[in-house]
Amino acid sequence: MEKKNIDWSNLGFGYMQTDMRFVSTWRDGAWDEGGLTDKATIEMSECACVLQYAQTCFEGMKAYTTADGKIVCFRPDLNAARMADSCRQMKMPVFPEEKFVEAVIETVRANAAWVPPFGSGASLYLRPFMFGIDSVIGVKPANVYQFRIFATPVGPYFKGGIKPLTLRISDLDRAAPRGTGHIKAGLNYAMSLYNIVDAHEQGYDENLYVDSATRTFIEETGGANIIFIKGNTLVTPKSDTILPSITRRSIVQVAKDYLGMEVEERPVRLDEIGQFEEAGLCGTAAVISPIGKIVDHGKELTFAGMGEKIRKLYDTLTGIQMGTVAAPEGWIQVI
Ligand code: PLP
Ligand code: COI
Repeated sequence: MEKKNIDWSNLGFGYMQTDMRFVSTWRDGAWDEGGLTDKATIEMSECACVLQYAQTCFEGMKAYTTADGKIVCFRPDLNAARMADSCRQMKMPVFPEEKFVEAVIETVRANAAWVPPFGSGASLYLRPFMFGIDSVIGVKPANVYQFRIFATPVGPYFKGGIKPLTLRISDLDRAAPRGTGHIKAGLNYAMSLYNIVDAHEQGYDENLYVDSATRTFIEETGGANIIFIKGNTLVTPKSDTILPSITRRSIVQVAKDYLGMEVEERPVRLDEIGQFEEAGLCGTAAVISPIGKIVDHGKELTFAGMGEKIRKLYDTLTGIQMGTVAAPEGWIQVI
């Protein structure tokens, strides 16, 4: 299999149409067989539930080329389980979890020529998603759904690669208590668009949200969880209104089991973050992106950027993903 002729090392985080995508349709109470197609566009009613009432959710995951030339995915079973949670909350049919993993494997295999080579710094981003496709005008769930997975090669999520980020404490909220902050619904991202454009216009890389009920505790950014470091301790917010990041859950285990760090998963107060030495955003797209500064209404809190501990976490996690560090049982799915 010959790789595509792409300047892998200079890819940004963008969409590129690849050869094949997976499609399955749910109708009359059941999923069809599903399969690959080369057709990258979707035709639907002007009144489709997804267009009118945003009935859609998605996942984000990556395929990598390892040091010894295999193609692998990182913990796809957890993406399958989280997508099932999102679907239940959005009143959408669950795509069976084992079938989800099989469909991911099929999609990656069909696009093997698009998986960036080891050492390029790029990976193949996979976007599983589901949406209500039939016409709905009264507010209610759709009757017909599509589940799809497309693949696109990507580089770093943030412009400038791993240069330390500057965040601002957001005045707007991302997630309500008892709302949808803990699932990966498109609507959570739609309502963040105004705020992200504003943050960029004001010179910030991202918005850091606090809890909307009390504005006391740190939550996460629009597209990643956050970790803080002090000495040998990793601290990360515990909250019912943030997305349960697979990267963050993996980092917690790496910190404890590989680096011998202490870990505190607990509510983190906005007024305590000044004492932390290092901080980073974590997610599939963000990987671990070091934070240089968090600005709280004119008050600047500075962090070490790619400090010693963030660097070790980054090297160990990406080493596990790319096959240079031994992985815990079940983390790596060989394609
Ligand atoms: N938080 C939000 C809001 C996200 O969109 C993402 C991205 O998926 C994450 C956190 C990180 O989650 P994961 O590590 O599972 O990619
Ligand atoms: C991911 O990390 O996979 C996401 O879905 C985050 C998104 C902001 C790109």
